[in-house]
Amino acid sequence: ASFRALTHLRQTGRTKGARIGHTGGLMTIEFDRSRVTVVDHPLVQHKLTIMRSEQTGSKQFRELVKELALFEGYEATRDFPLEDIAIKTPICETTGKQISGRKVAIVPILRAGLGMVDGLLELIPAARVGHVGMYRDEVTHEPHEYYAKLPGDAGQRTCLVVDPMLATGGSATAAIDYLRRQGVKDVRLLVLVAAPEGIKTVLEHDSEVRLYTCAIDECLNDAAYIVPGLGDAGDRIFGTL
Ligand code: URA
Repeated sequence: ASFRALTHLRQTGRTKGARIGHTGGLMTIEFDRSRVTVVDHPLVQHKLTIMRSEQTGSKQFRELVKELALFEGYEATRDFPLEDIAIKTPICETTGKQISGRKVAIVPILRAGLGMVDGLLELIPAARVGHVGMYRDEVTHEPHEYYAKLPGDAGQRTCLVVDPMLATGGSATAAIDYLRRQGVKDVRLLVLVAAPEGIKTVLEHDSEVRLYTCAIDECLNDAAYIVPGLGDAGDRIFGTL
Protein backbone atom coordinates (compact mmCIF):
# COMPACT_ATOMS: atom_id res chain seq x y z
CA ALA A 1 0.00 0.00 0.00
CA SER A 2 1.37 3.39 -0.84
CA PHE A 3 0.59 6.57 1.04
CA ARG A 4 0.24 9.86 -0.78
CA ALA A 5 0.91 13.06 1.08
CA LEU A 6 0.01 16.40 -0.44
CA THR A 7 2.62 18.83 0.64
CA HIS A 8 3.00 22.55 -0.05
CA LEU A 9 5.72 23.75 -2.38
CA ARG A 10 7.55 25.36 0.50
CA GLN A 11 10.23 22.74 0.79
CA THR A 12 13.75 23.00 -0.48
CA GLY A 13 14.46 20.10 -2.81
CA ARG A 14 16.00 17.85 -0.19
CA THR A 15 13.87 14.94 -1.43
CA LYS A 16 16.57 14.06 -3.96
CA GLY A 17 15.59 10.97 -5.87
CA ALA A 18 11.95 11.26 -4.90
CA ARG A 19 9.35 11.07 -7.61
CA ILE A 20 7.36 14.19 -6.98
CA GLY A 21 4.34 15.10 -9.06
CA HIS A 22 3.54 18.80 -9.09
CA THR A 23 -0.13 19.55 -8.70
CA GLY A 24 -0.71 23.29 -8.83
CA GLY A 25 1.25 24.58 -5.83
CA LEU A 26 1.08 21.25 -4.06
CA MET A 27 3.33 18.27 -4.55
CA THR A 28 2.63 14.63 -3.89
CA ILE A 29 5.06 12.51 -1.97
CA GLU A 30 4.43 8.79 -2.08
CA PHE A 31 5.95 6.21 0.19
CA ASP A 32 5.42 2.61 1.22
CA ARG A 33 2.81 2.86 3.94
CA SER A 34 3.20 -0.80 4.99
CA ARG A 35 6.36 0.01 7.01
CA VAL A 36 4.85 3.07 8.72
CA THR A 37 2.71 2.90 11.87
CA VAL A 38 0.91 6.11 12.82
CA VAL A 39 0.22 5.93 16.55
CA ASP A 40 -2.85 8.15 16.51
CA HIS A 41 -4.72 7.10 19.65
CA PRO A 42 -6.96 9.99 20.84
CA LEU A 43 -4.77 10.50 23.92
CA VAL A 44 -1.72 10.74 21.68
CA GLN A 45 -3.37 13.32 19.41
CA HIS A 46 -4.52 15.35 22.42
CA LYS A 47 -1.05 15.37 23.97
CA LEU A 48 0.61 16.19 20.67
CA THR A 49 -1.63 19.24 20.26
CA ILE A 50 -0.45 20.54 23.66
CA MET A 51 3.14 19.95 22.56
CA ARG A 52 2.62 21.85 19.33
CA SER A 53 1.35 24.96 21.10
CA GLU A 54 4.01 27.62 21.52
CA GLN A 55 2.42 28.39 24.89
CA THR A 56 3.63 25.05 26.31
CA GLY A 57 6.75 25.43 28.45
CA SER A 58 9.76 23.11 28.72
CA LYS A 59 8.62 21.20 31.80
CA GLN A 60 5.31 20.13 30.28
CA PHE A 61 6.89 19.61 26.86
CA ARG A 62 9.46 17.23 28.36
CA GLU A 63 6.78 15.28 30.21
CA LEU A 64 4.73 14.93 27.03
CA VAL A 65 7.72 13.74 24.97
CA LYS A 66 8.26 11.04 27.57
CA GLU A 67 4.57 10.03 27.58
CA LEU A 68 4.33 9.85 23.79
CA ALA A 69 7.52 7.78 23.65
CA LEU A 70 5.84 5.33 25.99
CA PHE A 71 2.77 5.07 23.74
CA GLU A 72 5.01 4.50 20.74
CA GLY A 73 7.08 1.92 22.51
CA TYR A 74 3.87 0.02 23.17
CA GLU A 75 3.16 -0.17 19.42
CA ALA A 76 6.77 -0.75 18.38
CA THR A 77 6.99 -3.87 20.55
CA ARG A 78 3.59 -5.28 19.61
CA ASP A 79 5.10 -8.14 17.55
CA PHE A 80 7.52 -9.33 20.24
CA PRO A 81 7.23 -13.12 20.54
CA LEU A 82 5.86 -14.72 23.70
CA GLU A 83 6.50 -18.07 25.36
CA ASP A 84 4.63 -19.97 28.03
CA ILE A 85 5.88 -19.98 31.60
CA ALA A 86 4.56 -22.05 34.49
CA ILE A 87 3.67 -19.95 37.54
CA LYS A 88 1.69 -20.30 40.73
CA THR A 89 -0.86 -17.64 41.61
CA PRO A 90 -2.06 -17.37 45.23
CA ILE A 91 -4.95 -19.55 44.02
CA CYS A 92 -3.48 -22.27 41.77
CA GLU A 93 -0.81 -23.29 39.29
CA THR A 94 -1.26 -21.86 35.80
CA THR A 95 0.55 -20.96 32.62
CA GLY A 96 1.44 -17.35 31.90
CA LYS A 97 3.15 -15.61 28.98
CA GLN A 98 6.51 -13.92 28.94
CA ILE A 99 8.46 -12.15 26.23
CA SER A 100 10.78 -14.70 24.72
CA GLY A 101 14.44 -13.86 24.21
CA ARG A 102 13.99 -10.41 22.73
CA LYS A 103 16.68 -7.98 23.82
CA VAL A 104 16.28 -4.29 23.16
CA ALA A 105 18.59 -1.31 22.78
CA ILE A 106 17.17 2.19 22.87
CA VAL A 107 19.31 4.46 20.70
CA PRO A 108 18.56 8.17 21.02
CA ILE A 109 19.90 10.48 18.33
CA LEU A 110 21.51 13.26 20.37
CA ARG A 111 20.32 15.51 21.61
CA ALA A 112 16.52 15.65 21.22
CA GLY A 113 16.23 11.84 21.21
CA LEU A 114 17.28 11.84 24.88
CA GLY A 115 13.82 13.13 25.75
CA MET A 116 12.26 9.84 24.62
CA VAL A 117 14.56 7.48 26.54
CA ASP A 118 12.93 7.54 29.99
CA GLY A 119 9.46 6.73 28.65
CA LEU A 120 10.82 3.70 26.80
CA LEU A 121 12.90 2.57 29.77
CA GLU A 122 9.77 2.60 31.92
CA LEU A 123 8.22 0.21 29.43
CA ILE A 124 11.31 -1.95 28.87
CA PRO A 125 13.47 -1.63 32.02
CA ALA A 126 15.96 -4.27 30.86
CA ALA A 127 16.78 -2.37 27.67
CA ARG A 128 20.30 -1.03 27.16
CA VAL A 129 20.83 2.51 25.94
CA GLY A 130 23.22 3.36 23.11
CA HIS A 131 23.83 6.87 21.83
CA VAL A 132 24.40 8.33 18.39
CA GLY A 133 25.40 11.99 18.24
CA MET A 134 24.44 13.91 15.13
CA TYR A 135 24.44 17.61 14.56
CA ARG A 136 22.87 19.32 11.64
CA ASP A 137 24.97 21.85 9.73
CA GLU A 138 23.06 25.14 10.01
CA VAL A 139 23.76 26.00 6.37
CA THR A 140 23.71 22.73 4.43
CA HIS A 141 21.38 20.90 6.88
CA GLU A 142 23.56 17.80 6.34
CA PRO A 143 24.02 15.51 9.39
CA HIS A 144 27.44 14.94 10.95
CA GLU A 145 28.18 12.07 13.37
CA TYR A 146 30.27 13.25 16.31
CA TYR A 147 29.69 10.52 18.90
CA ALA A 148 28.53 6.90 18.97
CA LYS A 149 28.46 4.26 21.71
CA LEU A 150 26.37 1.10 21.57
CA PRO A 151 26.06 -1.93 23.85
CA GLY A 152 28.60 -4.60 22.84
CA ASP A 153 25.91 -7.02 21.73
CA ALA A 154 23.91 -4.41 19.76
CA GLY A 155 23.89 -6.70 16.73
CA GLN A 156 21.71 -9.19 18.61
CA ARG A 157 19.26 -6.55 19.84
CA THR A 158 16.16 -4.89 18.46
CA CYS A 159 17.33 -1.27 18.21
CA LEU A 160 14.72 1.40 18.80
CA VAL A 161 16.23 4.55 17.31
CA VAL A 162 14.51 7.58 18.80
CA ASP A 163 14.34 11.20 17.69
CA PRO A 164 11.22 13.34 18.16
CA MET A 165 11.36 14.95 14.70
CA LEU A 166 11.82 13.26 11.31
CA ALA A 167 12.44 16.24 9.01
CA THR A 168 14.75 15.69 5.99
CA GLY A 169 15.64 12.21 7.20
CA GLY A 170 19.36 13.04 7.10
CA SER A 171 20.15 12.29 10.76
CA ALA A 172 17.91 9.23 10.82
CA THR A 173 19.47 7.65 7.72
CA ALA A 174 22.97 8.40 9.05
CA ALA A 175 22.08 6.78 12.41
CA ILE A 176 20.51 3.76 10.70
CA ASP A 177 23.59 3.36 8.46
CA TYR A 178 25.79 3.42 11.54
CA LEU A 179 23.70 0.68 13.21
CA ARG A 180 23.75 -1.45 10.05
CA ARG A 181 27.55 -1.14 9.97
CA GLN A 182 27.59 -2.44 13.56
CA GLY A 183 25.59 -5.49 12.43
CA VAL A 184 22.16 -4.50 13.76
CA LYS A 185 19.46 -6.36 11.86
CA ASP A 186 16.26 -5.18 13.53
CA VAL A 187 16.05 -1.37 13.43
CA ARG A 188 12.86 0.51 14.30
CA LEU A 189 12.73 4.30 14.09
CA LEU A 190 10.45 6.02 16.59
CA VAL A 191 9.64 9.69 16.01
CA LEU A 192 6.82 11.89 17.26
CA VAL A 193 6.27 14.08 14.18
CA ALA A 194 7.34 13.18 10.64
CA ALA A 195 7.46 15.13 7.39
CA PRO A 196 6.50 13.14 4.26
CA GLU A 197 9.89 14.03 2.75
CA GLY A 198 11.74 12.44 5.69
CA ILE A 199 9.59 9.33 5.66
CA LYS A 200 10.25 8.77 1.97
CA THR A 201 13.98 9.35 2.36
CA VAL A 202 14.30 6.91 5.27
CA LEU A 203 12.18 4.16 3.72
CA GLU A 204 13.95 4.37 0.37
CA HIS A 205 17.39 4.50 1.99
CA ASP A 206 16.90 1.39 4.12
CA SER A 207 14.67 -1.39 2.81
CA GLU A 208 14.03 -3.02 6.19
CA VAL A 209 13.58 -0.24 8.77
CA ARG A 210 10.14 0.24 10.26
CA LEU A 211 8.87 3.66 11.26
CA TYR A 212 6.56 4.69 14.09
CA THR A 213 5.22 8.25 14.30
CA CYS A 214 2.40 10.03 16.11
CA ALA A 215 1.70 12.32 13.16
CA ILE A 216 2.57 12.90 9.52
CA ASP A 217 2.72 16.65 8.99
CA GLU A 218 2.43 18.73 5.81
CA CYS A 219 5.94 19.54 4.66
CA LEU A 220 9.28 21.19 5.46
CA ASN A 221 9.91 24.92 5.30
CA ASP A 222 13.00 26.59 3.85
CA ALA A 223 14.93 26.09 7.09
CA ALA A 224 14.05 22.35 7.06
CA TYR A 225 11.65 22.69 9.99
CA ILE A 226 8.50 20.60 9.93
CA VAL A 227 5.24 22.50 9.16
CA PRO A 228 3.13 22.85 11.25
CA GLY A 229 5.48 20.86 13.50
CA LEU A 230 6.32 21.99 16.99
CA GLY A 231 9.51 24.00 16.49
CA ASP A 232 12.93 22.83 17.62
CA ALA A 233 12.25 19.80 19.80
CA GLY A 234 15.73 19.81 21.39
CA ASP A 235 15.47 23.46 22.37
CA ARG A 236 11.98 22.94 23.80
CA ILE A 237 13.02 19.83 25.79
CA PHE A 238 16.14 21.42 27.23
CA GLY A 239 14.92 25.02 27.51
CA THR A 240 17.63 26.40 25.22
CA LEU A 241 15.31 28.59 23.14
N1 URA B 1 14.22 19.29 14.16
C1 URA B 1 13.34 19.88 15.01
O1 URA B 1 13.58 19.91 16.22
N2 URA B 1 12.22 20.41 14.52
C2 URA B 1 11.91 20.41 13.20
O2 URA B 1 10.85 20.91 12.82
C3 URA B 1 12.83 19.78 12.33
C4 URA B 1 13.97 19.24 12.82
